[in-house]
Amino acid sequence: MNALTVSLVALVALTGPAVQSEDVPCRTFEEIYPSGRELCEKMWDGAFVYETNLSAAFTMWFFEAENPNNKVSERLGWPSADDCHLEYFHKESPGPEPDNFTECHPWKDYSCCHQATVSSVQNIKEAYGKEWHWDRCGPLSSACERFFVQEACLYECEPNAGFYRKFPAHIYNESDPNHNKWQMEGMPIRADYCDAWLRACRYDRFCAVDSGSYHSCAREYLEADKLTTGEYGVNAGLVAGVVVALLVGLVLCGTLGYFIYRERKGEPVFDKLET
Ligand SMILES: *[C@@H]1O[C@H](CO)[C@@H](O)[C@H](O)[C@H]1NC(C)=O
Ligand SMILES: *[C@@H]1O[C@H](CO)[C@@H](O)[C@H](O)[C@H]1NC(C)=O
Ligand SMILES: *[C@@H]1O[C@H](CO)[C@@H](O)[C@H](O)[C@H]1NC(C)=O
Repeated sequence: MNALTVSLVALVALTGPAVQSEDVPCRTFEEIYPSGRELCEKMWDGAFVYETNLSAAFTMWFFEAENPNNKVSERLGWPSADDCHLEYFHKESPGPEPDNFTECHPWKDYSCCHQATVSSVQNIKEAYGKEWHWDRCGPLSSACERFFVQEACLYECEPNAGFYRKFPAHIYNESDPNHNKWQMEGMPIRADYCDAWLRACRYDRFCAVDSGSYHSCAREYLEADKLTTGEYGVNAGLVAGVVVALLVGLVLCGTLGYFIYRERKGEPVFDKLET
C-alpha cells in the first residue's frame, strides 16, 4: 500500500504540471528588449520614458540624503510634492517611516508608502497578484530582481511619481471604466538607469508577450491562471492529475489482484525463477 501511495503521489506530480502548463512565451531580456529604451518604455506600457538629458530625468534609486528627484521636478516646473496623487497602497501625503524601513531605504524620511507595503522583497513581489510576479519565467538573478524592487519602491514610495498619474485628479472620471487612480504615464527616467537594468537582466528570462509588455503579460497570466484554477480555487490541473493517478492505481490494483488470484489457484502467471 505504501508503494501504491508513493506511485500515486509521483503520478500526480508528473501529470499535474503537464495539464497546468501555460502557453505564455518566455525569452531572455536581451532577446525581448533591443536596448534599455525598450525595457523602460515597452515593459511598463508608457509609464516611463527613456530620457538622455540627465538633468531632466528621474532616477529609480539613490544614495544621497536628499532625494535628487526633487531637483528634477523643480527643473521640470512641478510644484513641491506634498501629496502622493497615485492611489494603490499609497498614503495620502508623504512622511517619515520607522527605522525598520530598509527595503526602500532611500525614501525613509519622506515616503508615500507604508513600511508594511514594502517590508520585504517577497511582500513587494506578491502585493499585486500572482499575474504580476516578475519571476513567472523562472527565478531572476538577484542582480536583475534588484531592479524590479527598485521600480516598485519608486512607484509606491516616490512622491514625485504622483506627477505622472495617467488620469490626474482634474481629468479622472469615476464613471469612465477606462480611468483609474493607479496608473502612471510618461515619467522621464535616466537613460543610464534603463541601460543598467538591461545589463543586469540580460540573460534572465521574462514574459515575451507583446514585445515584453508587463501589462499584456499580466493579462495573459490572469487568463492562464483562470484555466488552471477553478471557481472554487481548486487547481484543475491537480484534479486532473489525481484522477489520472487514481485510474492508473485502479488498473494496477486489478492486475495485482488477478496475479494473486492466479497464484492462489496454483496457476501463477509467471513461473518461479530457478535459483
Ligand atoms: C535638459 O533639460 C533641462 C531641464 O529641463 C533643460 O533646461 C535643458 O535645455 C535640456 N537640455 C537639452 C540639451 O535638451
Ligand atoms: C517596523 O516598525 C513598526 C513601528 O515601529 C512596527 O509597527 C512594525 O511591526 C515593524 N516591523 C515590520 C516588519 O514592519
Ligand atoms: C464620465 O464618463 C462617463 C462614462 O464614460 C461619460 O458618460 C461622462 O460624460 C463622463 N463625464 C465627463 C465629465 O467627461
